Amino acid sequence: MKKILVVGGGGIGKRHIDGFLRTGKCEVSVCEIDSEKIEQIKQTYQVSSTFSNFNSIDLSCFDAVVIATPANYHVSMAKKCVLECVPFMLEKPLSISLDGVEELLKAIGEKKILCGVGYTRRSIPSYRKLKDLINSGIAGEIKMANFYCGQDYRKIRTDYSQIYFAKKEMGGGVLRDFITHFIDLAQWFIGKPEKGYVLQDNLVFGDVIETDDSAVLIGRFSGKLVSFYCNAFQKPNEFIIDLAGTKGNLKYVLVNRFLSRILFANDDSGEWKVLGEFRDEAKNYYVFQAEHFLELLEGKPNDFTTIEEAAENLKFILDAIENSKPQLSA
Ligand SMILES: NC(=O)c1ccc[n+]([C@@H]2O[C@H](COP(=O)([O-])OP(=O)(O)OC[C@H]3O[C@@H](n4cnc5c(N)ncnc54)[C@H](O)[C@@H]3O)[C@@H](O)[C@H]2O)c1
Repeated sequence: MKKILVVGGGGIGKRHIDGFLRTGKCEVSVCEIDSEKIEQIKQTYQVSSTFSNFNSIDLSCFDAVVIATPANYHVSMAKKCVLECVPFMLEKPLSISLDGVEELLKAIGEKKILCGVGYTRRSIPSYRKLKDLINSGIAGEIKMANFYCGQDYRKIRTDYSQIYFAKKEMGGGVLRDFITHFIDLAQWFIGKPEKGYVLQDNLVFGDVIETDDSAVLIGRFSGKLVSFYCNAFQKPNEFIIDLAGTKGNLKYVLVNRFLSRILFANDDSGEWKVLGEFRDEAKNYYVFQAEHFLELLEGKPNDFTTIEEAAENLKFILDAIENSKPQLSA
């Protein structure tokens, strides 16, 4: 059994506890500063031990650490893992600024620590199938892409105005938090993020959050053109990826929570061929991710987002904000 320590027992921390336990290959311990949350976790999951102070834990007792605290803690917590030579998975995004990122990358390289950033979709079968299709060349070379994503986050996280999402210094908001998922996919599918521009705003949520609820981002990825449309207020939960290649288009559609489809068209007949249908993935998202991370720990080839990629993702967003300053309305 692998011994896993999950740090942060909030919304996503609980998903990781559940995911690693459901692999049947792990014992899970938890570090959480909120004692009420610790009690709830103990009542819900078979956790091995609990802690409240991350800095005082001897990490050598664990095979790996999963850091699921808000983004402003990620780099310092990752540094402790590196210092104690313990593999780790970091929740996204890498951080809120580039402070300490270079040193972290250098230390990881020197100590050769196994690690990755948990951009979940890279571990999910439907997205992995899309990646395989891109690699197969069926659509030729992907030259343009659009990522369209909207959902009512207030319904998903009723405490949205109390958590990191509402706070700038904790890396919340659509631009610094949600869109980084799709930048990660564009990196994986298309290439390196280069120059970007952004418009972001708080269009609906008002002053209960100090961050944005909507953003439009455009950028170049290895010379290709990519756009991102994302909001956290719309009623339907939608996610569509369009990839336009030199031989045809691939399209990923999240039809609803229980079904996603991959479509392909290589003419203008209006007919889209269904290349894949995936049912009920959402309930197993974090089991897929845990299994994928266990492969990383075993040194197997894997597609986990590297810390370098997550650093490029963060730099791209920060530069896009700078590049767009005169136009920013929020
Ligand atoms: N992969 C995904 O799809 C996904 C989804 C949601 C959130 N996230 C990411 O996960 C991270 C956490 O998000 P969340 O929704 O779980 O937030 P949350 O606020 O629900 O939970 C964070 C938890 O961390 C705890 N915490 C804070 N400081 C701590 C410390 N020093 N030691 C131990 N525990 C500490 C808090 O008490 C809280 O319970 C963020 O970076 C977020 O972007 C990822």
